[in-house]
Amino acid sequence: MPTISVNLKDKNYDIRIGSGVLNQVAEGLATLGFSQKAVLVTNPLVKRLYGDKLKESLKAAGFDCQMMVVPDGESYKSLDQAGKLYEQLGDFQAERQTPILALGGGVIGDLAGFVASTYMRGMPLVQIPTTVLSQVDSSVGGKVAVNHGRLKNNVGTFYQPRLVMTDSATLATLPKEEIRNGMAEVIKYGAIRDPELFEMVENNPSPAAELWEEIITRCVAIKAEIVQQDEKDTGIRNILNFGHTVGHAIEIVSNYKVKHGQGVGIGMVAGAIISEQGGFCSTREVDRLRTAIQKAGLPVRIPHLDINKIIQAMQHDKKKAGGQVRFILLKGIGEAFIYDEIEMELISGLLQEMND
Ligand SMILES: NC(=O)c1ccc[n+]([C@@H]2O[C@H](COP(=O)([O-])OP(=O)(O)OC[C@H]3O[C@@H](n4cnc5c(N)ncnc54)[C@H](O)[C@@H]3O)[C@@H](O)[C@H]2O)c1
Ligand SMILES: [Zn+2]
Repeated sequence: MPTISVNLKDKNYDIRIGSGVLNQVAEGLATLGFSQKAVLVTNPLVKRLYGDKLKESLKAAGFDCQMMVVPDGESYKSLDQAGKLYEQLGDFQAERQTPILALGGGVIGDLAGFVASTYMRGMPLVQIPTTVLSQVDSSVGGKVAVNHGRLKNNVGTFYQPRLVMTDSATLATLPKEEIRNGMAEVIKYGAIRDPELFEMVENNPSPAAELWEEIITRCVAIKAEIVQQDEKDTGIRNILNFGHTVGHAIEIVSNYKVKHGQGVGIGMVAGAIISEQGGFCSTREVDRLRTAIQKAGLPVRIPHLDINKIIQAMQHDKKKAGGQVRFILLKGIGEAFIYDEIEMELISGLLQEMND
């Protein structure tokens, strides 16, 4: 089974990928030398699908395993829920060497990761992602956060996991809509760094079970390589935001009716068109990207939103980033670069044209 290593200055960790990896979690923990206690954070749905069985296997391996169940949904990625987990960790008498296992999608990974990074100034974190998005993206790279007030991911830290166990077989139970959401990120990795991966998703817009292992491995290899160069996201790591500046603004202005993957799909089309207008990539490449996004079941046009509000949301993001709207553009399929000097009028005109 493929293993990708992430090598950072003072910490290294492995990402194990494949069908059946869930059965190897106990062994993975044992090799890291943790205490006999383990905490499993999940939600009711994932508990029923995978959590109960995982807990049994940990108990069989001699772990004193405590399950902590958080309700399902983005709104539970909160300080309030983090507080409840801190209390349960106290009741369980968790120790500094008690690993916290985050079993679920990005919501559970971000929340349990945030709790692991703060409780007792840091507990070992093991990510066990079960959605496409979390397997190809959020479980790797160490960004953990909760939402506070009306803002998303605004309270968080950089905190790398000690191990990532990615079981591609868990995707068999994932709803189609969530698969499509995650496919936007897969297409993104292909577009910014891996022409062969791009071709794979062009030909397999809804991948068969046996393809996932390779798809995830390719995505994670790219993310690991980029995070190794720029852990704290001050430079090259920005290219992972291809399609995200416009996409994120569309999500906000639609009041999150447009899902993350959908916003990113539209944002990637916008990014490709701007790249073409700047002479960096060809019309054919824009068409290939647009077609791949469409075939994956994602939108390529804006569903009748107020473009001025989208621009405002982008400018708000820009203030956070220190004054520049960073755009990620393509030099063809498979190569991305950061471009800071794009005029807002140009974007605004393009988004008008892309609006239904
Ligand atoms: N930390 C990062 O770098 C990073 C990057 C991207 C996104 N994120 C965060 O990730 C979150 C989104 O994650 P997500 O898309 O995984 O959503 P999610 O965690 O909400 O999961 C989506 C749904 O799928 C269900 N589910 C999970 N695994 C399943 C399975 N195997 N079978 C059936 N159902 C399953 C969940 O219960 C949930 O209802 C957001 O909060 C976002 O901010 C973080
Ligand atoms: Zn994303």
